[in-house]
Amino acid sequence: MSDKKALWDISYGLYIVTATDGEKHNGQIVNTAFQVTNTPPQIAVCINKENLTYEYIMKTKKFGVSILEKQTPMIFMGPWGFRSGRDIDKFKDVNYKTGTSGLRLITDHALSIMETKVTSIQDVGTHSIFVGEVISSEVIKDGELLTYEYYQKELKGKAPKTAPTYK
Ligand SMILES: Cc1cc2nc3c(=O)[nH]c(=O)nc-3n(C[C@H](O)[C@H](O)[C@H](O)COP(=O)(O)O)c2cc1C
Repeated sequence: MSDKKALWDISYGLYIVTATDGEKHNGQIVNTAFQVTNTPPQIAVCINKENLTYEYIMKTKKFGVSILEKQTPMIFMGPWGFRSGRDIDKFKDVNYKTGTSGLRLITDHALSIMETKVTSIQDVGTHSIFVGEVISSEVIKDGELLTYEYYQKELKGKAPKTAPTYK
């Protein structure tokens, strides 16, 4: 009963979580985003403590989520999933909407976007789980979701050490 491969059968989508600290904006890819309650609608995301996005969410207690479409190119995901906002401006040449709370919500390759305010934080060691109440949301277009399975099996995509599902 210790086959870690069992965990690989858990299914996920892929998302960009964004965060804003004053004039500074950042974001990162996560596979760990899911709705946790309906009334009020709340979303949870699991973020590594080393990430710049973590710093911004911890400080400002808000985050945005963009739900990625199946056609999202690997080259688009690269900066969001493998580079730190400490080294590059990830919003350069990317389309986004600014939410009511000032969060930037990526619209390129997004099916839907939402902004949240953090209602609780669970420290789980290397990562923290942030739960946020959805304060606004919008469907950008119809389409198919980018699943983690498709990303791994068809696009041959990997995840860095900071991802909870790193192999
Ligand atoms: C497919 C994929 C899934 C990822 N999932 C997560 C995740 O759920 N949580 C997390 O903290 N990092 C995850 N990451 C890693 C972050 O996106 C990555 O560390 C990012 O560069 C952090 O950027 P920042 O320092 O600018 O915040 C994932 C990366 C990829 C490519």
